Amino acid sequence: MSDTPLKHLAIIMDGNGRWAKERGLKRTKGHEKGAETIRDITTYCAEHTSIETATFYAFSTENWKRPKLEVEFLMKLLEKYLKNELSTYQKHSIRFQAIGNIDAFSKSLQKRIKETEELTKNNSNLKQILALNYGGRAEIISTVNKLISKGKTVITEEDISTSLQTPYSDIDLLIRTSGEERISNFLLWQLSYSEFYFSPTLWPDFSNIELDKIIKNFEKRTRRYGGLK
Ligand code: FPP
Repeated sequence: MSDTPLKHLAIIMDGNGRWAKERGLKRTKGHEKGAETIRDITTYCAEHTSIETATFYAFSTENWKRPKLEVEFLMKLLEKYLKNELSTYQKHSIRFQAIGNIDAFSKSLQKRIKETEELTKNNSNLKQILALNYGGRAEIISTVNKLISKGKTVITEEDISTSLQTPYSDIDLLIRTSGEERISNFLLWQLSYSEFYFSPTLWPDFSNIELDKIIKNFEKRTRRYGGLK
């Protein structure tokens, strides 16, 4: 068994476009199927005994560079997801939170995000964090600026960890799907001592069965945090 339990899992969901292309479908179909996968994986995490938080990279600050129609589709899909999955959040006692700069989103999407956060705030089985219009560097910069504006002149590690937009624990395990092996400006601060797992599976095909195997692999790892064991 791993010396530290898996409390915080983070996932870079990649491969929706390729999944659709392989089937001769539009990229948007891949995103739709990807939204089903995120629901299934979140539910699995809520039922898992040690996982307290699952953070998903749903829209990066760089994703605005995609064609306008695809960006609009992703925004609508997200709004629909939050509306449709409210019952899942409540049934499995999942608390939803967003990180990232949501001010750039439409008023109705912002409202839906805030309402979902409010309606699920007392749920306790799992915290599901969606990173939306999120970038790791931007998060660190805005945290440091927040501390400076409060009058801090010397900033400690603890200051940053506790002043992030949604203060949350370090990541124990990061999974990226689709065979790409990079972190793409995700959670730069919180990934300092994480274990990494790169899966070749395209996100829409990712399953609870595979996640279970990855967690078993994680549990066999020895984490040294720079020390000796
Ligand atoms: C990467 O696939 C995926 C994203 C752009 C982000 C994840 C989005 C979803 C899972 C869809 C909906 C999410 C919610 C929360 C409703 P890609 O398009 O980069 O795939 P590719 O690399 O194969 O082109």
